[in-house]
Amino acid sequence: MHDDMPRTARITGMGGALPERVLTNEDLERIVDTSDEWIATRTGIRQRHMVADDEALSDLVVRAGAAALEDAGLEPGEIDLFILATATPEQPIPATSAIVQPRLGLVNAACFDLSAACSGFVYAVNVARQFITTGEARRVLVVGAECLTRYVDWTDRTTCVLFGDGAGAIVLEPAEPGDGILRTAWRTDGRYADLIQMPGGGCRFPPNRPETLEARLPFIKMRGNETFKVAVRALTEISLGVLTEAGIEPGDLDLFIPHQANIRIIQAVGNRLGLPAEKVYINVDRVGNTSAASIPLAMIDAVRDGRLKRGDLALATAFGGGLTWASMLFRF
Ligand code: UT7
Repeated sequence: MHDDMPRTARITGMGGALPERVLTNEDLERIVDTSDEWIATRTGIRQRHMVADDEALSDLVVRAGAAALEDAGLEPGEIDLFILATATPEQPIPATSAIVQPRLGLVNAACFDLSAACSGFVYAVNVARQFITTGEARRVLVVGAECLTRYVDWTDRTTCVLFGDGAGAIVLEPAEPGDGILRTAWRTDGRYADLIQMPGGGCRFPPNRPETLEARLPFIKMRGNETFKVAVRALTEISLGVLTEAGIEPGDLDLFIPHQANIRIIQAVGNRLGLPAEKVYINVDRVGNTSAASIPLAMIDAVRDGRLKRGDLALATAFGGGLTWASMLFRF
């Protein structure tokens, strides 16, 4: 290893984007057989944002990415790697990151999309960190973004009330050991692939066969109750694992930022980690489950709320389709 080789990466800029249109629980009462009371008590969600008819994923990513670059004080040409974590790309070819590249002016960046569902952002940070650590990249833009409302089945009340659209972006740059991203962990267990899936629209059930749409296959499907139990266990285990490896007690954390899928999952994990409520960040009430955008949007809201400050020690842990789960400990 060279003496001047950077050892880790720190967050030097952040930016988020939410569509203007808000879909409340009352709005959903008019679409499916549900109630504000059921959604609020079972999930904690009160509203979510939804793209307009003429909006798509790249529009959100451009807004979030531009805000993060400005926050970092960088010119777009200074970014040498751009990773977009998403499960809801704008189109299969090309990658949405390539569609975004000229709009953001990332002329010197290699771009790719990363698919790890709700864990995608933390996976992408882990990848970015490796490139910065080896010196292969110096300034990386990492975005988690979703247009989930384009993929939900508006006749399925068990899923359509849960998801929202949004994008959260960060810029990562080299940091000294002890600063920035301190430790990460990531896991996959494909034996549970059918718990959260969108079975149609790929090459198994292609979009060019009428029966794919007739069977309502190109929609998000989730076995919520089973997913719930695995989520609590996985989020707790990986969070404790990362903390133990780093020699840090949960109580040393300034803030825990869990994936925002369900307030009952968040509270159960917070309790298992022994954290008081004020150290567990929650914004699922305002944005719903935004999958790969969930963690960065929560980080941005936490900064805005004064709950995450420069120098704070924070843990962000995600969980989602794959199944995938991942955690990152960082000094902000
Ligand atoms: O981001 C990726 C990871 N995702 C997650 O971690 C999500 C994990 N799962 C969950 O958050 C919860 O399981 C859900 C919110 C999806 C569902 O909550 P639940 O407490 O597990 O409910 P359930 O699926 O056991 O359903 C309970 C009842 C059922 O009725 P019956 O069979 O008891 O008569 C459902 O049909 O609630 C009914 N139900 C609804 N009722 C009103 C399900 N969805 C709705 C709805 N409105 N929207």
